[in-house]
Amino acid sequence: MRAFAIFLALCGLGFAGAPEGKAVFQARCQPCHGANGEGKEAIAKMFKVEMHPLASKEVQSKSDAELKKVITAGTGKMKPVSGLSGEQVDDVVAFVRTLK
Ligand code: HEC
Repeated sequence: MRAFAIFLALCGLGFAGAPEGKAVFQARCQPCHGANGEGKEAIAKMFKVEMHPLASKEVQSKSDAELKKVITAGTGKMKPVSGLSGEQVDDVVAFVRTLK
């Protein structure tokens, strides 16, 4: 509880974009990646790829810059996610970090 209060305080000071990132994630990533980034089987089948869970070592070992590139430039079968501001991309990367 105390840790959560500190977390909220830090967010208030603008240190963490994860809560904003969660909203972006739910709107723009969750339909394919699932609520916890586990990956939707139907999407993986449709694209005929193996989707690494976003919490996995494969994804978490990427740098923030690499994750931003995946979002803004796409990767493999994933198309770039359009219409996000630079700040929203930062926030959603912060949220992806909370999944590990
Ligand atoms: C239309 C479905 C779709 C949406 C929307 C989508 N993705 Fe993806 N994503 C995929 C697929 C499919 C792959 C696997 C691509 C491949 O390996 O060819 C992938 C791969 C990734 C990877 C790389 C995983 C790896 O193993 O290298 C990351 C990170 C990722 N997505 C993050 C996101 C984030 C963050 C968002 C939202 C801003 C998002 N994706 C939106 C379908 C989607």
